[in-house]
Amino acid sequence: MPVDKEWLKRAADIVGADGILVDPSDLESYGHDEYALQTYVQIPKAVVKPSSEEQVGRIVGLCAETGVPITPRGGGTGLSAACVSDPAGIVLSLERLNKIVEADPKNHVLTVQAGVTLEQINGAAEEIGLFFPPHPGDESAMAGGMVATNAGGARAVKYGTIKRFVLGLQVVLASGQIVDLGGTFMKASMGYSLMDLMIGSEGTLGIITRVTLALLPRPGSIQTLLAPFATVAAAIESVPAILERGTIPFAVEFVERSAIACAERLVDKSWPAHQGSASLLLMLDGPDEDLVLSQAEAIGEVLEAKGALDIFLAESRERQEEILGIRSMIYEALRPGTAELFDVCVPRSQIAGHVEFVHSLEEKYGVPLPTYGHAADGNVHTNFMRTRVEAGMLGEEIPDWPMKHEAVRGEIFDDVIRRKGIISGEHGIGLAKRDYLINNLGETNVALMRSIKKALDPRGILNPGKIFRL
Ligand code: LAC
Ligand code: ZN
Repeated sequence: MPVDKEWLKRAADIVGADGILVDPSDLESYGHDEYALQTYVQIPKAVVKPSSEEQVGRIVGLCAETGVPITPRGGGTGLSAACVSDPAGIVLSLERLNKIVEADPKNHVLTVQAGVTLEQINGAAEEIGLFFPPHPGDESAMAGGMVATNAGGARAVKYGTIKRFVLGLQVVLASGQIVDLGGTFMKASMGYSLMDLMIGSEGTLGIITRVTLALLPRPGSIQTLLAPFATVAAAIESVPAILERGTIPFAVEFVERSAIACAERLVDKSWPAHQGSASLLLMLDGPDEDLVLSQAEAIGEVLEAKGALDIFLAESRERQEEILGIRSMIYEALRPGTAELFDVCVPRSQIAGHVEFVHSLEEKYGVPLPTYGHAADGNVHTNFMRTRVEAGMLGEEIPDWPMKHEAVRGEIFDDVIRRKGIISGEHGIGLAKRDYLINNLGETNVALMRSIKKALDPRGILNPGKIFRL
């Protein structure tokens, strides 16, 4: 059954008339995520906005009965076109499920509805004197979407990605039934971990409606170190020596000068180091200032021994936030000239080699490929630019960039696979990378994923076509 007048009336009976959008001007912003190009834009037939878990269940039940494809959507901050609807389908926006269900200071646990943003999660944790460690860049990301993509971010070095903090999920299955997976406990030896199956499933196995997250005590002190290096390879090669010392910074980011210059212009702030062609940004936390400062000092010595051209310690909170702010705005700054931001992940020891390979492609194809990313995680962001980048400004368009984009993507992914890495460390597969998955994981793996999909969603209504073709 198509999404026609009658279907919309039945949906409106469930969520109310104000919970349904069909006007083209309202649908436009639900047709894409933050992927740079228009390639995957797909306007849904309608956007449905339930305001309770029970309403989500009934809408999924209606979709199951009528065979309407359903794409769940949180903050829409993804970069892989995973929350873009099927042409015949609807977007189910979780934005009205925006309540903090329970903040539990005794168990160090926070339960939120799927549409609660990262910013709200941080605020709710702070209110009970605790802290939510993962930080996938964009604070308008929502709980459900962060879990559905197993989002990463800069703090994964010490704390890991979202999955490490998910204790429980409430999920609406393809039948419309609601199940609770996991709970408020730290251990489980209870058969198949269905909860883990949902993490990173990009809305293809179930729709996450509630998330129970583990919290940690707030660190008493945070310090930020910044070290410029002559080359990006020198910056990255110092990372193993830092980690071997035994103090694990919560973030170890590398950024190339050309990318930083664009972000500096955008936010009109200045990065402390202008020497060399790359910087390493390290963030440390711990219970008290003296301890963290002495650790920062020791890491500073390692950086110096490894060829850092200078070492900056940003002690004040404002300066630390300014530096992090510039780093966080790199994608925003490059985006108007970007065709695609890659997020490959290789074993740590392979990053420098991979980045060197990316630079050889820069010469081979005559396109700017600024890199930055999460050095200690092996998670490299290469920005495929369709424009020139000079002195912090985006210049003219590169002739033939679409062909070059395809070729460079293929070469980057092949290099990553050669190095025993993966094509997505934190942004997910969605539509953008689905045709490359099989090369990376192999047929047996993808066939297993397909059979799980079939078992949980026999009619293929849950976000069909994402991760792999049905
Ligand atoms: C970053 C995001 C885009 O690291 O993953 O900037
Ligand atoms: Zn990233």
